[in-house]
Amino acid sequence: MIASAPGKIILFGEHAVVYGRPAIAAPVSQVRATAVVTPNEGEGVRIIAPDLDADFLLDEADQSDALVATMRQIQTAAGLARLPNLTVTVRSDIPIASGLGSGAAITAAVIRAVAGQLGLARLATDEWVSGLTYEVEKIHHGTPSGIDNTVVAYEKPVYFVRQQPRNIIETFKVKRPLRLLVADTGVRSSTKIAVGDVRRHWEAAPIQFEALFDGCGRIAAAARTAIEAGDVTAIGRLMTENQRLLVEMTVSSPELDALVAAALRAGALGAKLSGAGRGGNMIALVEDEEMETAVRQALLAANAHTVLTTTIKSRN
Ligand code: PMV
Repeated sequence: MIASAPGKIILFGEHAVVYGRPAIAAPVSQVRATAVVTPNEGEGVRIIAPDLDADFLLDEADQSDALVATMRQIQTAAGLARLPNLTVTVRSDIPIASGLGSGAAITAAVIRAVAGQLGLARLATDEWVSGLTYEVEKIHHGTPSGIDNTVVAYEKPVYFVRQQPRNIIETFKVKRPLRLLVADTGVRSSTKIAVGDVRRHWEAAPIQFEALFDGCGRIAAAARTAIEAGDVTAIGRLMTENQRLLVEMTVSSPELDALVAAALRAGALGAKLSGAGRGGNMIALVEDEEMETAVRQALLAANAHTVLTTTIKSRN
């Protein structure tokens, strides 16, 4: 049984989404995590992750490991006293710790493949894959908003609001496909640390940070309207406005600032960091091939490690 899940970018509203403001995220389908599950002859559950140099038996592993936690989530959700003998091999071409949701994608791919292999159709639904991935995300993140697991499980652009008792998850129309460059600073950054720092700033200056979160929420709501209307100029402007607020939230970095500035100088319609920040990836919106070439060159000249292009479209 083989299953995969995509990387993701956050278009609008990272960090503020943890505090109940709306955010927009989209899958990046050309970078993926893939899990292959096969029965084995009496080894128990064996997990092989060549990219992480890992090959271990579930029962002998550190139980706080994310892959182990993933298997335990499936076991509990399926109500199984023991998991059958399975070999789970995981590969990913999503860069880790760089804001592209690699952890969530690996978890989602494993859940889908194991559920498929065990004939647990309910656990392989988008809703269950998302919910179980969320439980595992808590290990990476501390207080995840739920947006990462949602977008990698549903593999659609989503408008997301964290709230009790149920998050708002809406898909929406992308009137004109959005052509984005995704550029990696090459600096790895911990989501948990960035999210924790924002929390400390919010506790120390609640009025200022609530206002910043409100600003991000307003931008995300306006961006949804602009995406539905196909107004790429407005979308770009909103991205750059969102970036200004993220700088104030202390989650940008010199490398991210340099890439954002280079993209804008080269004519991008808008640019911002994507994900937790402090490193990882930034995104730049371009209108056509000519603009894409100019912005790509500018990003590489400003020390981007990799630049990939992704197009965000409506999906049914
Ligand atoms: O670093 P990433 O891509 O996992 O992004 C996390 C997004 C945050 O809004 C910063 C945190 C969250 O849980 O939503």
